[in-house]
Amino acid sequence: MSDRFPPGFLWGAATSAYQIEGAAAQDGRTPSIWDTFSHTPGRTAGGDTGDVAVDHYHRMREDVALMAELGLTSYRFSVSWSRVQPTGRGPAVQRGLDFYRRLVDELLHHGIAPALTLYHWDLPQELEDAGGWPARETAYRFAEYGALVGAALGDRVERWTTLNEPWCSAFLGYASGVHAPGRTDPAASLRAAHHLNLAHGEATSALRAAMPARNQIAVSLNSAVVRPRSQDAADLDAVRRIDDLANGIFHGPMLHGAYPERLFADTASVTDWSFVHDGDPRAIHQPLDALGLNYYTTSLVSAADPHGADARADGHGASPHSPWPGAGAVAFHQPPGERTAMGWTIDPSGLYDLLLRYAKEAPGLPLLVTENGAACDDAPGPDGAVHDPDRIRYLHGHLASVRRAIEAGADVRGYYLWSLMDNFEWSYGFGKRFGAVYVDYATLARTPKASARWYAELIRTGELPPAPGA
Ligand code: FCB
Repeated sequence: MSDRFPPGFLWGAATSAYQIEGAAAQDGRTPSIWDTFSHTPGRTAGGDTGDVAVDHYHRMREDVALMAELGLTSYRFSVSWSRVQPTGRGPAVQRGLDFYRRLVDELLHHGIAPALTLYHWDLPQELEDAGGWPARETAYRFAEYGALVGAALGDRVERWTTLNEPWCSAFLGYASGVHAPGRTDPAASLRAAHHLNLAHGEATSALRAAMPARNQIAVSLNSAVVRPRSQDAADLDAVRRIDDLANGIFHGPMLHGAYPERLFADTASVTDWSFVHDGDPRAIHQPLDALGLNYYTTSLVSAADPHGADARADGHGASPHSPWPGAGAVAFHQPPGERTAMGWTIDPSGLYDLLLRYAKEAPGLPLLVTENGAACDDAPGPDGAVHDPDRIRYLHGHLASVRRAIEAGADVRGYYLWSLMDNFEWSYGFGKRFGAVYVDYATLARTPKASARWYAELIRTGELPPAPGA
């Protein structure tokens, strides 16, 4: 197998607005659900918030210069909805749009293709107060917001993503409550999932109407790679139920125009799905130009042992409330193997399986790895340099899987490392470092880690070097 990536392969890094921007109350921005949540005692580690985050709003030029130094050919970022449309309704705020226009122009100036995500979890608080994602109206608000951003930036941004990981918005936000807005209402979480699907479909149509036809529209899913603990029928059925709730619930309507049939029966004790209106499947099922996949680890699942403790190790934070409404008796187990600082098992083969699954599931649809990376306990050494061999090993293993998937026929067009720099890792606060660039939170100084240099060299050569330590 060649270790060379195809010409034109996009080499990227990803971030999201609330995790990096700061300037939370500047230039007309209003609170999002993550501002409210992070300011609620007990919700984030150490009470950390994104008020300042890594101050990207004021250091944008420096950050783009870093990207250029690394040789990135694309950069995935998200727009803060409440910076652009503070109440979630009505006309856009020019100052908010101007920030993103400056960012995009700076990227283009350096030959870096902007990849814009409209929604990375930061719903304007006003829309949550009006019902949030469980309310149908939110989907229409999102389409309107998408059209505003599309009209403003569609002339210079070609790569668009509607939603980032709607699973997390619906189920961590409204079922287990470990993410904003922190609700624990299983029925509301399924309504939220449907309205996120509808939001994706309506926004895709609105973007197409608002932008030049050449622009590409995608969605980024955190499709789970769910493996059975044994081949017993009960374990296989548990996998099927989790797969429907993690994957089919989004890719079913988005890619095929229908929810997985058994999902309705599985969740019948939670909801009757009467919130799905005639015509919704058609509205959701819009042609896409690419599918974004975010991958970190695999899940190991069995039917719950009624006599044993429920081994909940799904990697999505501690909560007495399950993020799997209607899944029934299911247990999550820690997959064997080494783990990252998040406690997530390192399994590059999962990324290969995921890419091949979607190559089959959505033939002809180009794939992008829109997030992949590892949290490590990084710290500068005495010389000030940050050596992160574990991250380099992680990246190498996963990029080898991408290369192998391409060889096996998957049409993978690009890879975005999560993340460009250390940042606010949601409920974990600043305690988990995913960056290729180290951020000193006292001074906000940026220092590329060894992994950043390693990635830059890979981008320069287009060829995966031998495995580190090999
Ligand atoms: C993904 C999120 C991203 C980051 C990584 C570690 O689920 O999209 O913002 O938190 O996980």
